[in-house]
Amino acid sequence: MDRLSVKKILTEEIVDTDATVKGWLRSVRNSKKFSFLVLNDGSSQENLQIIVDEVLPNYAEVAGLLSGSAVAVTGRLVRGGGKVQSIEMQAKSVEIIGKTDETYPLQKKATSLEFLREQAHLRIRTNTFGAIMRVRHHLAMATHEFFSNRGFFYLNSPIISGVDAEGAGEMFTVSTLASDVTKSPKTKEGKLDFSRDYFGKETFLAVTGQLEGECYAMGLGAVYTFGPTFRSENSNTTRHLSEFWMIEPEVAFADLDEIAGLATDYIKYLIAYALEKAPKELEFLINREDATCEKNHMEILKHVRDSKFMRITYTEAMEILGKVDPAVKKFEYPTNWGDELQTEHERYLAEVHFKMPVIVTDYPKQFKAFYMKQNPDGKTVRAMDILVPGVGEIIGGSQREDDLAKLEARMDEMHMQKEPLWWYLDLRRFGSVPHAGFGLGFERALMYITGMNNIRDVIPFPRTPKNCDF
Ligand code: 4AD
Ligand code: MG
Repeated sequence: MDRLSVKKILTEEIVDTDATVKGWLRSVRNSKKFSFLVLNDGSSQENLQIIVDEVLPNYAEVAGLLSGSAVAVTGRLVRGGGKVQSIEMQAKSVEIIGKTDETYPLQKKATSLEFLREQAHLRIRTNTFGAIMRVRHHLAMATHEFFSNRGFFYLNSPIISGVDAEGAGEMFTVSTLASDVTKSPKTKEGKLDFSRDYFGKETFLAVTGQLEGECYAMGLGAVYTFGPTFRSENSNTTRHLSEFWMIEPEVAFADLDEIAGLATDYIKYLIAYALEKAPKELEFLINREDATCEKNHMEILKHVRDSKFMRITYTEAMEILGKVDPAVKKFEYPTNWGDELQTEHERYLAEVHFKMPVIVTDYPKQFKAFYMKQNPDGKTVRAMDILVPGVGEIIGGSQREDDLAKLEARMDEMHMQKEPLWWYLDLRRFGSVPHAGFGLGFERALMYITGMNNIRDVIPFPRTPKNCDF
């Protein structure tokens, strides 16, 4: 008999017929003459309740199963009497595929997120991680749909890179050391040289795909990347990963206003898609006992989906922050013009002041990347960040400097080597046009939409300065 997914059974309300389901037991509850199995097969947030009658030949063995065991059950689908479960299965046969024992780490019901981080290989078997990873899948699909529908082409930018594309010095170097120590290059002192190990050249894991995106936008018009990016910043926070996924659209002939509009539409599209495709998942996550998001998070998401985003300049943001009464909110970091916005400032603006995502533009050039287009004031650049409640920055973007002389002057000012970026400068030599783009941190977007408050919980296997065990 063909296997049916729990999702199909429940959404299509398949009843009064026999079917087979395969999955893992979330719980086993025994009464006098029956055993109640709660089965999840990953397809849906919902579980299927299965009633096993003691007349079944292997009843004793089934009733003794522990949660986490894998089974195949064939039985009759019927409408259940219970309030929550509309459809259940009356088992005709239960095949035990894989048992667990008392050492299975997820047996206890109350498994904290912290504990589950140490069980990254098993945590997907919980309702919480099933929900998160299904939402993650939907948001990936939404991304491709959104950009493709608007005529963008999907670009696979390289993961091994020869340059520091953000100029921030936060790269991991690529090394073949472990596989062939004897042939590895040595430093002058005779020690193994980790840094020049890519066939004798120093290379890095990509911190961004933007510069390659700019190259391709100059031929395809509009492109977007969607891939892993790597940062070696030693930040142990709830919103930093060493390996995270980024979506980076890049648009020829676009200015900052155009991509601010694009970014707004994209975030709204993600929210609308999640609400449509995974409402049960979102509800489950928001109503978890240890959830830290607002109780009415779903309503807030709907409101954001249907609202205009606020837009202010960095200078206006500083004015707002400067006026905050210290009795109401005391910032740990100062807020003088020229300072970088810290997470606490970003969250204050989005969460407390606007209670909405807010676009902040025209930042001081001193803490922004070399490639951003300078404003006529000589002090600020055509940059934008999008800040959201609960997370802070989820998008960073800018109009790019398309004038060769100005770009070279800025690189000199920042003491950057121009030679490795000769190909990037070529874009300004040959058919240069105004262009702009942004990067959305996929995990930060997931945190925002699911209401999860630790970035380690929205990526399958988190890599942080302190963790690369799995
Ligand atoms: O602001 P960032 O560094 O901008 C860029 O990389 C540009 N090249 C983007 C572009 O214009 N094409 O990073 C963009 C976004 C941030 O807003 C944040 O959401 C996310 O990437 N991000 C991180 N997410 C998780 N862990 C980290 N360590 C992150 N660093 C940045
Ligand atoms: Mg940024």
